[in-house]
Amino acid sequence: MTHFPRQIIIDTDPGQDDAVAILLALASPELEVLGITTVAGNVPLALTSLNARRVCELAKRSDVAVFAGCHQPLKRALVTAENVHGKTGLDGIELPEPIMPLQSMHAVDFMIETLRQAPEKTITLCSLGPMTNTAQALMQAPDIASRIERIVLMGGGFFEGGNITPSAEFNMYVDPEAAQIVFASGIPLTVIPLDVTHQALTSKQWLDDLRAMNNQVGTAVAAWTDFFERYDREKYGSEGAPLHDPCVIAYLIQPELFSGRWVNVEIETNSALTLGATVVDWWRVTDRKANAEFLRHINRDGFFQLLSHRLASYE
Ligand code: BDR
Ligand code: CA
Repeated sequence: MTHFPRQIIIDTDPGQDDAVAILLALASPELEVLGITTVAGNVPLALTSLNARRVCELAKRSDVAVFAGCHQPLKRALVTAENVHGKTGLDGIELPEPIMPLQSMHAVDFMIETLRQAPEKTITLCSLGPMTNTAQALMQAPDIASRIERIVLMGGGFFEGGNITPSAEFNMYVDPEAAQIVFASGIPLTVIPLDVTHQALTSKQWLDDLRAMNNQVGTAVAAWTDFFERYDREKYGSEGAPLHDPCVIAYLIQPELFSGRWVNVEIETNSALTLGATVVDWWRVTDRKANAEFLRHINRDGFFQLLSHRLASYE
């Protein structure tokens, strides 16, 4: 059952788009952020843990608890994405060193402890990076699965292909074994793949509106977007940058902005060529059980309106 406000844990590897997702969540009364757990992904763990706190302080929410998690994928060497996000992971604007502390508890222990204390199917996990922490928690404490209402994750791509290899999206590619554990867990999943996020492209008008908000958050989001837009423009020739991870939070607030299908999704972990690919049985040509709501379309205008509205609420 979904409570109001919906209780969420944000598992993340900030990253500019992760940062926007966190800002959206912290500005949304529909959501209660129980904690932010960090993972190695876009940049190494030390930086994602620093960045998560930078973002909380930007939001003037140093009360939010941030927990550092796994510093490398379950079975593989870490692959990072400084080419997209810059050396710090949050290139585009310089934010001060955070004052708020990192919690001493490991992110995986926080997940297990929090979920064990929660009634069945109450907590939503928002997964914005490689799924190492979640998979590790499920391996250590399989009983927590029943406490999770749903995992809403940014990852994968089917019709759109991949963004780090021709067939794999970054989050799935970095830790395919972790993704496989999550997709086999039986927990209801909502997958927000590149098929959706490549429609969530920023526009010049939206960036101008952000700047005109005249608040620190608007300025930072515009500067971040400017930074990684350069990369996307060169890569895809597209105007605007895809705001991948904020789609996860927007889905929780306004699911009607999105559409997709319940299908079977499996993760490739063996093939060198297609490692980390999300194999989606879109046409239901197998009898494999549906395990995920795989989204395909987004109402772009509605999404950006929601984002502007919530970001404007910061002082
Ligand atoms: C995903 O990878 C990261 O670079 C982004 O933060 C997003 O989570 C997109 O493939
Ligand atoms: Ca991310």
